[in-house]
Amino acid sequence: MMEFILQSPTSVSLFGVFVVLLVLHLLYSNFSFPKRREPPGPRPFPLLGNLLQVDLKRLDQSLFHLSRTFGPIFQVYFGPKKVVVLAGYRTVKEALLNQADEFGNREITPLFYDFNQGHGILFSNGDSWKEMRRFALTTLRKFGMGKKMSEEITIEECGYLIKEMKKYKGKAFNNTQAINYAVSNVVSALVFGKRFEYEDPVFQKMVERDNEIIHLTGSVSLQIYNMFPWLVRWIKNRQLMIKNAAISIRDVKDIIQQLKETLEPQTCRGLVDCFLIRQQKDEESGVKDTHFHEENLAFTVSNLFAAGTDTTATTLQWSLLLMAKYPHFQDQVQEELVRVIGSREVSVEDRKNLPFTDAVIHETQRLASIIPTAIPHKTSQDVTFQGYFIKKNTVVFPLLTSVLHDESEWESPHTFNPSHFLDKEGQFIKRDAFLPFSAGRRVCLGEGLAKMELFLFFTSLLQRFRFTPPPGVSEDELDLTPAVGFTISPLPHELCAVSRE
Ligand code: HEM
Repeated sequence: MMEFILQSPTSVSLFGVFVVLLVLHLLYSNFSFPKRREPPGPRPFPLLGNLLQVDLKRLDQSLFHLSRTFGPIFQVYFGPKKVVVLAGYRTVKEALLNQADEFGNREITPLFYDFNQGHGILFSNGDSWKEMRRFALTTLRKFGMGKKMSEEITIEECGYLIKEMKKYKGKAFNNTQAINYAVSNVVSALVFGKRFEYEDPVFQKMVERDNEIIHLTGSVSLQIYNMFPWLVRWIKNRQLMIKNAAISIRDVKDIIQQLKETLEPQTCRGLVDCFLIRQQKDEESGVKDTHFHEENLAFTVSNLFAAGTDTTATTLQWSLLLMAKYPHFQDQVQEELVRVIGSREVSVEDRKNLPFTDAVIHETQRLASIIPTAIPHKTSQDVTFQGYFIKKNTVVFPLLTSVLHDESEWESPHTFNPSHFLDKEGQFIKRDAFLPFSAGRRVCLGEGLAKMELFLFFTSLLQRFRFTPPPGVSEDELDLTPAVGFTISPLPHELCAVSRE
């Protein structure tokens, strides 16, 4: 009988289908060996996984919601790809800090591979990542990241931004561009050793292109491409992205070439010069397989712009919008600035004497939670975590939004409440669950720089301007609904910057 079944063509194909379905079932069910308990999660459908149970337009919120059902560690399938989600302060901290090596690799999605090819810092792993990260950190520190030199650069740029905002003479305008130019110029000064005029068309295009890349990255179609790269290679957004990324890298390479032609080994104008000098040294001493090559330089530079511009600019935009929406908090910041600083220039040193202002900046970062799922990680080896088995090379999302809005950590997680960062005497207090820059091996490389920029830009602007809704719009009508992309930014809006001088 068995022989007959296997010999009939229909039966053979039926048997084949049965085997495929069984394999798929085992793959998608929480099938595991007795001692290898996998994290729980919603039951996936073959091929689609859990795509019908998550909202790709608000992935962060969907995952946060699922964590309420499945607990702080659970797994979801994006199509055929399994992702382990870590939620809540305790779990994210335990994974990223206590098991930093195991959870410290980067998941390089097809999209990120398309335009980084494993180079640079953001989307690389192994020795190349280690060398580039170490080089960027030490070099930026040498240029005073969080210290004097970058402070001077930022203070100078505050002046240009204020001048730009003054041009609108208190009329309503969209501040996105001006803020992006200012923040991008700080990175530019540290990396290239020069700033650009806001009117420079090449600079404008560069910033615009970077913004577009970041917004496209969060689009639903590109998330689908990451899940089924073989199926949707030709979608429009991917083509657009690749085109933009190629032009962006070409621009960076052009500037690097100009710096190469005018390089003087005794004077390092910025990170690019330091890299070129190191590259020359490696060449002269015949170092084989050096990571200091052209591609790593171009992608490291491009990563610093991508990671350092939109993030800081978006946070600043949130801070001004929140000040316009909650004028009583703006009053308190401005009262503190007048009392402690007066009309002189603010410096980083002043931060400790401005606890309320500092609390407002921290609270903005907490509530806005601009990189809600961090940037995907990957396990570097098999891990047993909180009793669950996670295989090597599993994608991991540290759900930062669930840390910044953790109900067991914050008194009012979903409202703007600067007193989260103030004690009873009104002094600034640090909070452990404040992790907008993530933690562990992949913690944001620009944390010190970003904190300094946010403080200096915010205080300088609030010293000079009162931020209000456009005429005819009430504070209540100012919309805090986020626009979701790779980062979470405010929807396009206008504010008035009314001079206080
Ligand atoms: C408010 C501003 C910023 C925020 C909220 C922010 C946040 C983050 C987050 C959440 C990550 C991912 C961490 C992870 O994977 O676990 C990250 C990575 C990174 N950030 Fe930032 N960032 C900011 C500004 C900057 C600036 C100014 C720079 C540099 C100029 C920068 C450079 C980087 C780089 C290079 C990485 C990749 C690190 C790696 O993969 O090793 N960031 N950032």
